[in-house]
Amino acid sequence: MSADFLQNLFGLDGQTAVVIGGTGVLGGALATGLAQAGAHAIVAGRNADRGEKRVAEIQKLGGRASYLPVDVTFRSSIEELLAAAVKAQGRVDMLVNGAGINSASRYFDVKDEDWDRVLASNLTAVHWGCQVFGRHMAELPEGGSILNIASVTAHLPLSKVFAYSASKAAVVSLTQNVAREFAPLKVRVNALCPGFFPAEQNRAILDEQRTASILSQTPLARFGEPPELAAAAILLLSRRAGSFITGASFYVDGGFTAMRF
Ligand SMILES: NC(=O)c1ccc[n+]([C@@H]2O[C@H](COP(=O)([O-])OP(=O)(O)OC[C@H]3O[C@@H](n4cnc5c(N)ncnc54)[C@H](O)[C@@H]3O)[C@@H](O)[C@H]2O)c1
Repeated sequence: MSADFLQNLFGLDGQTAVVIGGTGVLGGALATGLAQAGAHAIVAGRNADRGEKRVAEIQKLGGRASYLPVDVTFRSSIEELLAAAVKAQGRVDMLVNGAGINSASRYFDVKDEDWDRVLASNLTAVHWGCQVFGRHMAELPEGGSILNIASVTAHLPLSKVFAYSASKAAVVSLTQNVAREFAPLKVRVNALCPGFFPAEQNRAILDEQRTASILSQTPLARFGEPPELAAAAILLLSRRAGSFITGASFYVDGGFTAMRF
């Protein structure tokens, strides 16, 4: 195995990755993975304590990272994040749109405010991220790369998470459409579709019954560990390893979407 070969394909040295939602469980693992692959990871979110904690963890591992605030429910906040990232690092080569929230209830009980909140954080925010950062990346000579975090429920219904599932299906559709639009600009756009990883936003939903049901439908028969997402993210974001991949939905789900009774 040649280290040069791997470094050439997957090394992200000299590049900057903004990870929106890097304050969370999955986004944080992605920020760590991208930094370990050589990128400067900007951990972005609305919880400074968690962001700074993640930055310290990355630095302890020898990686480069910093925290910047963002609230993805305001376009102006995403614009400010881009401006601050460019001011600090000169450019942004990669973006992970990884903030997200959830809300669970029976369909007849779905409240309009919850529906709107989930769609705003999970879909409109991803659209704003693509627009704001895509415009910047289109001006870079090497272009850039965007990774939108969708979910297995983009293609399969899950009980009680109607707005969440709809938002993730729309993220996959948006990813495909924006990938077509951005291809001539040398900006690739892909979706990562995780299976089930215990995190903040789904802790309340993963009760005993749901856990048993999920695991019985997962061929690898366990939840994912957040670092298990990093390799797929590096592949999709790397301008060399992922050079011909755009508009794709990549599943890291222990086989959940392959399971049929
Ligand atoms: N955990 C899973 O099993 C799973 C599966 C599929 C998809 N996902 C998706 O992965 C992404 C990360 O989720 P997670 O599971 O790590 O959850 P998490 O709750 O640990 O992380 C989500 C992060 O997004 C941040 N966030 C939420 N709203 C925000 C806002 N308005 N502005 C800025 N930041 C905001 C939260 O503060 C948190 O840090 C989400 O898009 C989620 O839908 C998670």
